[in-house]
Amino acid sequence: MDAVTDFALVTGAGSGIGAALAVELATRGVGVILVGRRREALHQTRASLPAGVPAFVAPVDIAEATDREGLVQSVMQRLEMHGQRLRYLVHNAGIGKPAAGFEAMEPDDLTQALAVNVTAPLALTQQFMPALRQAEDARVLFVGAGIADRPQPGTGSYGISKKALARLFDQLQADFAWAEADDWPALALFQPGLVDTAGLQDHLAAARSCGLPHTGYLDHALASGQARAPETVARAMADALIAMPVTDFSGATLRP
Ligand SMILES: NC(=O)c1ccc[n+]([C@@H]2O[C@H](COP(=O)([O-])OP(=O)(O)OC[C@H]3O[C@@H](n4cnc5c(N)ncnc54)[C@H](OP(=O)(O)O)[C@@H]3O)[C@@H](O)[C@H]2O)c1
Repeated sequence: MDAVTDFALVTGAGSGIGAALAVELATRGVGVILVGRRREALHQTRASLPAGVPAFVAPVDIAEATDREGLVQSVMQRLEMHGQRLRYLVHNAGIGKPAAGFEAMEPDDLTQALAVNVTAPLALTQQFMPALRQAEDARVLFVGAGIADRPQPGTGSYGISKKALARLFDQLQADFAWAEADDWPALALFQPGLVDTAGLQDHLAAARSCGLPHTGYLDHALASGQARAPETVARAMADALIAMPVTDFSGATLRP
């Protein structure tokens, strides 16, 4: 393989969609930076990548400002040292605890979900902006969720924060257009639909223990094979990042 110069940073790369995307991108010759809190999970993803593609793990909590600063510094040092560039930024990490109704909803859970699902994507996009501006045709992908527009009982932290993420996506488009800078990255929102991951299974188990009604829909969807495999979704995301014309990517809401 030719020397790899383009890198993608994928948050939540230790499991599910993020892990599958890291594999898919590396298979297509893109170097990957694997971000998540659990070091072992990131190393597991690292071990499943094709040989010869540069990849490194960055075990950080993206909700923490100091972790984000350390991440940006170490990534930039490493890429600059090897003459490599950050071309793709994928805000895939996502959380949001179910609650057994209004009175059980913990405001702190919402705060945490907003920190991971909204504040971190904003801060990381800002902090990596100088690097993204140096890469030709750089792209930033935000991973949304359909629940943002379909409120279900007990899903406030997750749904509200994903709705806010979609609004952040709209906001950045407006701000980028106003800046009239022609070297800023293109932005897109990716809506994965239902994907059979550990994250979905954890959500289902937690929602079931709260007695939430949408578990019936999820059980049926999983049993009838309506949930996609993470690999299928990862292929669509990699296509969007690497192969889609920028005019189609920019400002789009994409689906697998
Ligand atoms: N699966 C679905 O049906 C579905 C549907 C719609 C949208 N989505 C979205 O798709 C994305 C991926 O979900 P998934 O299903 O693949 O779930 P997942 O396996 O739970 O992946 C989420 C990842 O985010 C990481 N993460 C969580 N908090 C973090 C933090 N503070 N700092 C760094 N990393 C953090 C987790 O790793 P650590 O725990 O190691 O930090 C985990 O690897 C999420 O944004 C989710 O909302 C999924």
